[in-house]
Order: sequence, then C-alpha cells, then structure tokens
Amino acid sequence: MTERIIPIADARYHAAVPPVPDAPAAPVGHLEDARGRRLHDLRISVTDRCNFRCTYCMPKAVFDKDYRFLPQSSLLSFEEITRLVRIFIGHGVEKIRLTGGEPLLRKDLHRLIAMLSPLRTARGAPLDLTLTTNGSLLTRKAQALRDAGLQRVTVSLDALDDRAFRAMNDVDFPVSDVLAGIEAADRAGLAPLKINMVVKRGVNDHEIVPMVRHFRGTGHIVRFIEFMDVGASNGWRLDDVVPSADVIERIRAVFPLEPIDPNYPGEVAERWRLRDGSGEIGVISSVTQPFCGSCTRARLSTEGRLYTCLFAIGGHDLRALLRGGCDDAAISGALAALWQARSDRYSEIRASNTTDLRRIEMSYIGG
Ligand code: GTP
Ligand code: 5AD
Ligand code: SF4
Ligand code: SF4
Repeated sequence: MTERIIPIADARYHAAVPPVPDAPAAPVGHLEDARGRRLHDLRISVTDRCNFRCTYCMPKAVFDKDYRFLPQSSLLSFEEITRLVRIFIGHGVEKIRLTGGEPLLRKDLHRLIAMLSPLRTARGAPLDLTLTTNGSLLTRKAQALRDAGLQRVTVSLDALDDRAFRAMNDVDFPVSDVLAGIEAADRAGLAPLKINMVVKRGVNDHEIVPMVRHFRGTGHIVRFIEFMDVGASNGWRLDDVVPSADVIERIRAVFPLEPIDPNYPGEVAERWRLRDGSGEIGVISSVTQPFCGSCTRARLSTEGRLYTCLFAIGGHDLRALLRGGCDDAAISGALAALWQARSDRYSEIRASNTTDLRRIEMSYIGG
C-alpha cells in the first residue's frame, strides 16, 4: 500500500472521508436532511487568508506570522469547485456564495465566477451567485467580477468612524477605501448591495444609527448581525451581544421603521423598511432567535471539506473523493447520504459553556 502524506495544516480539523454508496441513486433536484430541511445554499470558502485581522474573527495573537495557512496544493482548484457545484446543483442547490477568508485574495477569482455563472439550477434558472467581501479590493476588481457574471456582493463593514474601523480590522485599513469599493461595486451593477455589520457591545454599537443614516437613500441594505460564538479564538461572551431587538429600538428612536416580509422562506435576515421610504435594513439574530429550523446551508471549506453546520466540529473530505478517482455519480451519492443524515442545529442548542468547545474558525469555513 502506498503511504498517504497528509500535510499538518490539513490535519487541523477532523474530516472523515465519506463512504460512497454501492449503487447511488440518481439525483432528483431535491434533497432533505433528517429534519426535513432542503439542501439549497452552498457557501464556498475560496481562501483561508485575509488581509484584515478583525479582532473577533482572526485575532492577531492567533493569526500571526507563524500561523500556517493552507498550502496552495491543498486548495480546491477552480475546476474541482465547479465540478462539485454541478453535483450540488443536481441535488437542488440554487444559491452559491463565495466567501473566505477574503475571497478576493484568491488569484483570478473572476475565472471561477466565469465558470460558475453559466450553470443552471435543476429547474433551469440561473444560479443566485454572490460573494461576501471585506471590500478592500473591490475598487480594483468590481468590474471584472461583474463582467464574469457575478450578480451582487455583500460587503462587511463594522464601522464608519475611521478610528473605530481601523481598530476593528486591526491592520489600520482606512474606511474610505472600503466606501470607495462599495461605490465601485454599485457602479459595476453588483446590486442590491448588502452591507453586513457585526455588532459588538462597547466596540461598535455606537455606529448603528450612523450606519443607517449613511446608507439610507443609496439602495444598499445594511444588516446588523449579532456577534456569535463562532470559532475558538474570538473570546465570545454573551454580554458582547447586542440583541437585534435592541438594535431595532435604537434605530426606531431616530428613523421610524416597519417590518417587511421575507424575500424567501428561511431568509436569515429579518427585514425592516424605513417609514420615510429611504431604505431597507435587516437584522440577523443568530444568538437570540436562532434560525436552524429553516437552515438550508452547506459549507465547503477551502480544501474541499463539507460542513453541514457553521458550528460543526467535523467535516467530510470531498476532496479525497475528487482526487481519489470517484466519478460524479459516486460523489453525488456520498453527498446525498451526508445531507440525509444531517441533524445539526447548533444555535438552537447552544451550550451555556461555550469556552471549551473546539470549533471551527469562520475564516476557515466562511461566514
Ligand atoms: P442574502 O441572500 O444576501 O440575504 O445572504 P444571507 O442572508 O445568507 O446572509 P449572509 O450570507 O450575508 O450572512 C450574513 C451573516 O449571517 C453571516 O456572516 C453570519 O454571521 C450569519 N449567518 C449566515 N448563515 C448562517 C448560518 O447558517 N448559521 C448561523 N448561525 N449564522 C449564519
Ligand atoms: N459573529 C457573527 N458574524 C461573524 N462573521 C465573522 N465572525 C463573526 C462572528 N463572530 C461574519 C461577518 C463577516 C463575515 C465574513 O463573517 O458577517 O462580515
Ligand atoms: Fe477577514 Fe472578514 Fe474575518 Fe474580518 S471578518 S478577518 S475581513 S474574514
Ligand atoms: Fe444552520 Fe448550524 Fe447556523 Fe443552525 S447553527 S442556522 S444549523 S449553520
């Protein structure tokens, strides 16, 4: 038997090679897990690297110069990603989100977009193809992404105040460059733009109302996200969370709001409209109002491991199947078995003691 050499960086999280069924059934464009939840969204991390060191996500003390990011050979190639996406589509995936780390750090990402954008869902419609970025490289890349077929982008922006923003990204990155990136994305037609702000009490919650004020009238949708206990290195405490109900109250005191219906069942954000007609905002309440009951999201890590929950401890090594000579039918069958067995609902059963759990980092698996 030949010996398999597994690089250390790859062994950081547990990932089993999924079994391949003997006679895999052909996909029918619809797959449900053990709780009746469809497989509908696939979030793909295209790099584990980021040029920011947001204190809640990639704290410098952990992600320092000695941190071993994945080597190039570990990453799924664009061809491998595209092949997997086709297989996922066979099971009903209609929405693809590229994430990271910072996805725009992946070389030639527009090439991947160009490979994915012509694909059609099992129902024959275009994919909902989008990307989450910190915005730092958008000025340069927005137009090429749009030309390659990207439909829209979501930009993470935690503060408008330059000092607060530089402190949060911890690499002294100026907010003006991200705002310019947002404008470039808008000009390129990557709309509607969503602006995601993770709210951490005492750190940036004073920016909630200014964010609404700044973006009203632009057509961009600001979404306020409850700070989650994701990963093992962000030092999460419940006290750090500003519940969405409080966020809404604070905004309402300045800009009257009214609720609006979700765009689709299982939408993560709860939507609100500014009564004066100047815009829409959203809140994402993963801590105070978990949405596991309607969670249709699968996550693919940078080196091809499938995670059936943001908080999963273990992944499933799809790359081993891709590189081990399995054909599409075999991988499709293995994927079906994994999804059908899925019962994750971490946010609903969040343990009271969250400090000693070994969890996956969001920079590795993607938001
Ligand atoms: P849109 O289709 O653009 O509305 O995207 P989305 O609603 O899927 O939101 P997005 O991908 O921008 O996610 C926003 C944030 O919601 C993430 O950064 C996470 O903080 C949180 N989030 C998204 N999906 C999940 C999930 O499956 N579980 C948990 N716990 N949080 C999630
Ligand atoms: N809580 C909530 N959202 C987070 N993100 C990263 N870490 C956290 C966390 N601890 C999300 C943010 C960011 C995206 C890349 O991941 O939305 O914009
Ligand atoms: Fe990078 Fe986004 Fe994490 Fe900040 S939150 S370190 S921008 S991946
Ligand atoms: Fe889905 Fe897991 Fe998030 Fe619940 S905690 S919504 S199951 S990813």
